Amino acid sequence: MADVDFSNRDSFASKFGVIAATAGSAVGLGNIWRFPYVAGESGGGAFVLIYLAFIFIIGVPVMLSEFIIGRKAKQNAYGAFKKLAPGKPWFVIGLMGIVSAFLILTFYSTIAGWTLEYIVQSVSNSFSGKSSQELKASFESFQSGTFRPIMWQVIFMILTAGIVLAGIKDGIEKYTKVLMPLLFVLIIVMCIRAVTLPGASKGLEFLFKPDFSKITWGVVLEALGQAAFSLSIGMGALITYGSYIQKDNNLSSTAIKVSITDTLIAIFAGIMIFPAVFAFNLEPDEGFGLVFIVLPNIFEQMAGGYYFSIVFFILLAVAALTSTISVLEVVVAYFVEELKISRKKATFIGALSITILGIFCTLSFGILNDVKLFGKTMFGLFDYISANILLPLGALLIVLFLGWYLGKEKIKEELSNSGTIKLRFFSVFLFLIKYIAPIAIALIFLNSIGLIQF
Ligand code: PHE
Repeated sequence: MADVDFSNRDSFASKFGVIAATAGSAVGLGNIWRFPYVAGESGGGAFVLIYLAFIFIIGVPVMLSEFIIGRKAKQNAYGAFKKLAPGKPWFVIGLMGIVSAFLILTFYSTIAGWTLEYIVQSVSNSFSGKSSQELKASFESFQSGTFRPIMWQVIFMILTAGIVLAGIKDGIEKYTKVLMPLLFVLIIVMCIRAVTLPGASKGLEFLFKPDFSKITWGVVLEALGQAAFSLSIGMGALITYGSYIQKDNNLSSTAIKVSITDTLIAIFAGIMIFPAVFAFNLEPDEGFGLVFIVLPNIFEQMAGGYYFSIVFFILLAVAALTSTISVLEVVVAYFVEELKISRKKATFIGALSITILGIFCTLSFGILNDVKLFGKTMFGLFDYISANILLPLGALLIVLFLGWYLGKEKIKEELSNSGTIKLRFFSVFLFLIKYIAPIAIALIFLNSIGLIQF
């Protein structure tokens, strides 16, 4: 590989920009759409407890590992491994990451498109006066359609490509740091409305009271997959973003702040959804459509619900957008730096091929609903393979790379900004990435595919 000139590589302009962009990648549909639907299907409280444990013993260490790899190498997810481990097969992690990015964006853009439809429905006041069964029916009729869901998906991909094309400082950073805090405030307002609905306590119980009889290895794997998906780890998005982080940034504190923000938003999303699920006599295991069915019910019952719904769906779309740009950036950075094509061409090819594949995911809810592989639609399959298999596997390999290949001294050098920051939890971090995280991930894998019985 020819040496790349790093001097003109883009980077984040400010410390807050780094946190905003990384949090922008982490916070998205994973928190607000995926977390409630997976928690609902996996029995609630016990799943949530395991998820939280995984965030901190696996998620944070992996996020930090990705930052270290990215900033040290200043390369895309594939080039980083080529650079740090020349002539060794570790670059496979990067290739897996590119594949994960493709798969994730195909189905993610379907849901992201739905958020645009819901902005329009909010503006046209179409939730008002409808019963919860009517709201459910109207969601289902939209979702199973052909033209509208595809149109929104295509529009969403055009928006994503547009921002990625604008580059890091002018594109990604500018948009994320204003809108994310606003989303957080709005979710809190919705939580307050949800927990004051009649019958809300059943939902809080569902979310927070662990029923350990519901735990299976499948549920444990779901929790691991959700933790990885939500934190954007295991596929190189944060290696790529890490490569744009400046040398004086405190990586550990960035990783911890971002992880806490992400987790809080997921939990608050749960507090906003589940009380309402029970209050409106819906089912927690409604699946992929859960939030789109529940949220309009809350708005319908809320003073000023019309305005809240418009702002909420706009912010949800923005949260999704700050995540999709980080996924597309993985593909684009790879194309630009490894295949040596222009950023414009790379963005166009990446976005177009993902959109074409993505249309099949969107149609999984409509005319392709009966096309199934391993009992799942294409959408369900891509969601499962990426979140529950590729991301945990990527996370496993990343910690192994750092803990067992790169070595203590190089990690310390990068993490301490060449000795200028005092590292307080260094030995804990090393222990987690060398032993705890890899053993935990490996055990969960082997158990859930039935290779060992614990
Ligand atoms: N973390 C994002 C979300 O929660 C999704 C994502 C996954 C982004 C993997 C990048 C990489 O919406």
